Amino acid sequence: MEQVKANEMGHFLFGGWDAAELAEKFGTPLYVLSEDMIRARCRAVKASFMDKWENALAVYAGKAFLPMAMCRIIESEGLGIDVVSGGELYTAKVAGFPMEKVFFHGNSKTRDEIRYALESGVGRIVVDGISEFETLEEEASSLGRKASILFRVSPGVDAHTHKYILTGHTGSKFGIPLVGDYLRDAVRRAMRSEMVSLKGFHFHIGSQIFENTSHVMAVDVLVKTLAGLAADPGFAAEELNMGGGYGVEFDPSGKSPEIGTFTDAMMVRLSEGCASAGIPRPRVIIEPGRWIVSEAGVTLYTVQTVKPISGIVTYVSVDGGMTDNPRPSLYGAKYWAVAAEKMDEKPSETVTIAGKCCESGDVIAENLKVPPLHRGDLVAVLNTGAYTFSMASNYNRIPRPAVVLVSPGRSDVIVERQTYDDLLRWDRIPEHL
Ligand code: LLP
Repeated sequence: MEQVKANEMGHFLFGGWDAAELAEKFGTPLYVLSEDMIRARCRAVKASFMDKWENALAVYAGKAFLPMAMCRIIESEGLGIDVVSGGELYTAKVAGFPMEKVFFHGNSKTRDEIRYALESGVGRIVVDGISEFETLEEEASSLGRKASILFRVSPGVDAHTHKYILTGHTGSKFGIPLVGDYLRDAVRRAMRSEMVSLKGFHFHIGSQIFENTSHVMAVDVLVKTLAGLAADPGFAAEELNMGGGYGVEFDPSGKSPEIGTFTDAMMVRLSEGCASAGIPRPRVIIEPGRWIVSEAGVTLYTVQTVKPISGIVTYVSVDGGMTDNPRPSLYGAKYWAVAAEKMDEKPSETVTIAGKCCESGDVIAENLKVPPLHRGDLVAVLNTGAYTFSMASNYNRIPRPAVVLVSPGRSDVIVERQTYDDLLRWDRIPEHL
């Protein structure tokens, strides 16, 4: 991992900044995102996918992290955005993101969201099933706007990841299962529709995946499906969206797989498969989220208490926790952290970094080797750019941290720290109380 660097004072360096300086300037807990690292990842995606293959577009999966500033970065790097709710769509729109490069997802889109997506002119609506298709047709007719869509399918492929983030199996709540005639019937309906232009299909098999085998298997399944649909009912898919899911390594001694590990294998298989089935290779799309932003983020915390329990564990508790990073308690995700002002000291203790929430499960990192830590020390948790801020909550009425975007010589707040007043903003006390 590129993340662990220190300066001559033994301070953790990130995105061209001394972490202690950032903590001093903005307070803790603090999400810090490196603009250069986000851009480098976008460029790697471009070089190894968009520039390498013809008719290939990468769209960033906004659910990983989507403040408006992120939309601006993604736009300037030439990628599209995948949004999954009216709120994400609104964010991208207000940030001025080109709507034709937006893919609108979701297994349970409301009528209002569908209408909003149509009115906004998003590039693609990814339709999750036939009942959604019916609502979409109604809304498209009432607005007099033809919708360009993909059908999401679940290719019946199991990937090796946590079951909460597994999505491509037949029993998944996502997509049209490729069993029976569900998909063929849906395609026939779309082909008959005046208000819908079916461009092709989408699959996403899961997240935080390290081997390409499941992705390649899904491509095989899709090629067969495309060939079958080309024969009956004679539908030629122009587009195939192959989702995201490319894993990142959290252990700083490891290295995340290159995106080409997945995309090269999928593209070769797709091209060969289409050629041998006698169908044209569709335009392709990928949707990486975590791979673009995870390593580009760290979270800074200040130690509040240190509690050694002899022979069992030493808790180092910090000023944030599952409210700003629910992933350890939700998925058992493992994070690494560093003593951000003691990078030159020998790790002599094994500690557990605990959060401040009233939950025993609120633990951020376990069995961490660190130098002795005390109240007021700074801790940096690595690899927190993805699915932390975007999944944050106000449990225990804890305000959300600020998000700072840094690059050498620049540090800008892109999301303000919540205040106690923000917490009360939606509270109303009925008169009789
Ligand atoms: N496309 C679709 C349709 C998706 O549902 C997702 C993720 C992605 C792309 C991006 O996947 P990525 O490249 O980031 O793996 N909250 C969980 C992850 C849930 C991912 C849901 N869908 C976590 O914290 O691990």
